[in-house]
Amino acid sequence: MESSIDRFYSPNVKERDKNAESRLRPAGFIEYIGQKNVVDNVKVMVESANIREQAMDHALLSGPPGLGKTSLAMLIADALGSELHMISGPAIERKGDLAAILTSLQPRDVLFIDEIHRMHISIEEILYSAMEDYRLDIVIGQGPSARTMQIDVNPFTLIGATTRSGLLSNPLRTRFMANLHFDFYNPSEIGEILALNAKKLEVSLDNDAKEIMAKCSRGTPRIANRILRRVRDFSLIDGSKKLEIEQVKKSLSLMEIDERGLDRMDRKILKTIHDYYKGGPVGIEALCATLGEDRSTIEDVFEPYLLQEGYLTRTPRGREITQKSVDLLSN
Ligand SMILES: Nc1ncnc2c1ncn2[C@@H]1O[C@H](COP(=O)(O)OP(=O)(O)OP(=O)(O)O)[C@@H](O)[C@H]1O
Ligand SMILES: [Mg+2]
Repeated sequence: MESSIDRFYSPNVKERDKNAESRLRPAGFIEYIGQKNVVDNVKVMVESANIREQAMDHALLSGPPGLGKTSLAMLIADALGSELHMISGPAIERKGDLAAILTSLQPRDVLFIDEIHRMHISIEEILYSAMEDYRLDIVIGQGPSARTMQIDVNPFTLIGATTRSGLLSNPLRTRFMANLHFDFYNPSEIGEILALNAKKLEVSLDNDAKEIMAKCSRGTPRIANRILRRVRDFSLIDGSKKLEIEQVKKSLSLMEIDERGLDRMDRKILKTIHDYYKGGPVGIEALCATLGEDRSTIEDVFEPYLLQEGYLTRTPRGREITQKSVDLLSN
């Protein structure tokens, strides 16, 4: 069975899922639904760069996983007519690796650094002068004989993506001209995405089925797409190209997603606070230890939605569940 984290987090998705994901990526701004504020900002930045014939200003995209950061970076590079280079922050182990990437960029190229908050600080420092002056300051040697060598890089655009903008160092954060935050999508936007992607998968989707799927997608397009593909599998087996409400219900129950869109892990978090900690408050460290989960997984992947939907609150003394959770758990 797939773990609940797999449903959210791109680095863990299997190869098959990755291919399916790229097939469902928005092919242009016209297919990029929602996030109006982010998209409006980005369009102005792209157009201005195109008129100036210069590199677009650096932008930081932040928000929970699966909301469309990578997809947006792809659209930006396309609209600039530039090459997109994608790297993952924690995967860069040496300064030299980052320097090599930066010096290989062509004018106006887009460098996309995913999980930029997890980049090592000593490596991150290379970015400061690269972003500000398109120059690398590299220290060669040690002690009294050390000297700084400067290497020019072509004007480029850095797009950083992060699930936690709060964890970014100040020098790095302030070098981004635009700090764009992604919000969860509302059910009608998710519904639009589902309708669009059903067409791409060549299946038909009736309104009732679409509404249930949209409600259970946690405001997250990646989850909506996963549910859609699952339901599609079901209807294929049933020999139909029409996705019916019964197949939706069966898929959701197999995926252990309830009618509110919460999954096994969401419920486990709420139940743990309720049963072990009498509803809270409980410190995040203690909670994660009891759950046997990584702190960043809980904070980045699960909590944001539970907070937004009012199942959980954060107080100075820790996490507390709300009456809404108590009602849910007593059902
Ligand atoms: N605004 C959107 N309109 C339509 N589809 C979208 C939109 N945003 C995301 N999607 C769909 O959701 C999938 C996941 O999006 P994407 O990979 O861009 O998320 P992400 O924010 O980069 O996630 P992560 O933080 O895990 O890297 C895409 O393949 C795409 O099909
Ligand atoms: Mg991504």
